[in-house]
Amino acid sequence: MWALGDAYERYVGRWSRPVAAEFLRRLDVPPGRTWLDVGCGTGALTEAVLAHAHPAAVVGVDPSEGFLEVARARVPDARFAVGDATDLGGRNADVVVSGLVLTFVPDAAAAVGEFARAAPYVGSYLWDYTSGMQMMRLFWDAATDVDPAAAAHDEGRRFSTVSGAEPLRALWTGAGLRDVEVTGIVVPTVFRDFADFWEPFLGGTGAAPAYAATLPPEQLNAVRDLLRSRLPEQGPIELTAKAWAVRGAR
Ligand SMILES: C[S@@+](CC[C@H](N)C(=O)[O-])C[C@H]1O[C@@H](n2cnc3c(N)ncnc32)[C@H](O)[C@@H]1O
Repeated sequence: MWALGDAYERYVGRWSRPVAAEFLRRLDVPPGRTWLDVGCGTGALTEAVLAHAHPAAVVGVDPSEGFLEVARARVPDARFAVGDATDLGGRNADVVVSGLVLTFVPDAAAAVGEFARAAPYVGSYLWDYTSGMQMMRLFWDAATDVDPAAAAHDEGRRFSTVSGAEPLRALWTGAGLRDVEVTGIVVPTVFRDFADFWEPFLGGTGAAPAYAATLPPEQLNAVRDLLRSRLPEQGPIELTAKAWAVRGAR
């Protein structure tokens, strides 16, 4: 599991951390509140809540016992439990947050309904897979140029009904939440060189690396070479990643 946690960290964990910090700054929740981090994974957002929001307590919930094992070791000041976004086991908190999760939940509306049941204040963020999350957009565009069948795996297409300003607003208002605000958070993603950009796609964790792992070597190398031709020859490679952030109150 450490290998999996490390692969996730190198792929997007390192870029989701600054998004989590900015997301919490905009949520602006007073100190002393109780928090639930749904789909906490290896604990990136849980850790950010402890670092930036001065909570009374934080509980992280995730269906993956393996990710939770990493989270427990990495964030000892939080508590963690196995659970699903659509059934939080009757847990309650002052705030429910969820980072980069709703696109993976088959019934996102049921999940947001459960968030609104569990807490009076609900916030979440997702990558802008269609364009603003540039490293993923570049990957899928190159992969589809090499292998048109890659389009079926492209997160920009698969997740467009959930990750976007209007879909998120509709999910939040549909769950009865009010004062709904959707904003974009853009963070720099600066890669030392091409290897620093490319190698995390070979780690197997995440949708694009999982797809890459299915490619025969000649196709994988063709995707790599196409990407290399589309990026600066010399490092650093300066890209940005955009996430959609949403919040609302019951
Ligand atoms: C991209 S990771 C994000 C992890 C973490 N929130 C972060 O920001 O690094 C997606 C997480 O969603 C979790 N997940 C998938 N399906 C879920 C569900 N139905 N309910 C709750 N979490 C789920 C996965 O186990 C994984 O930990």
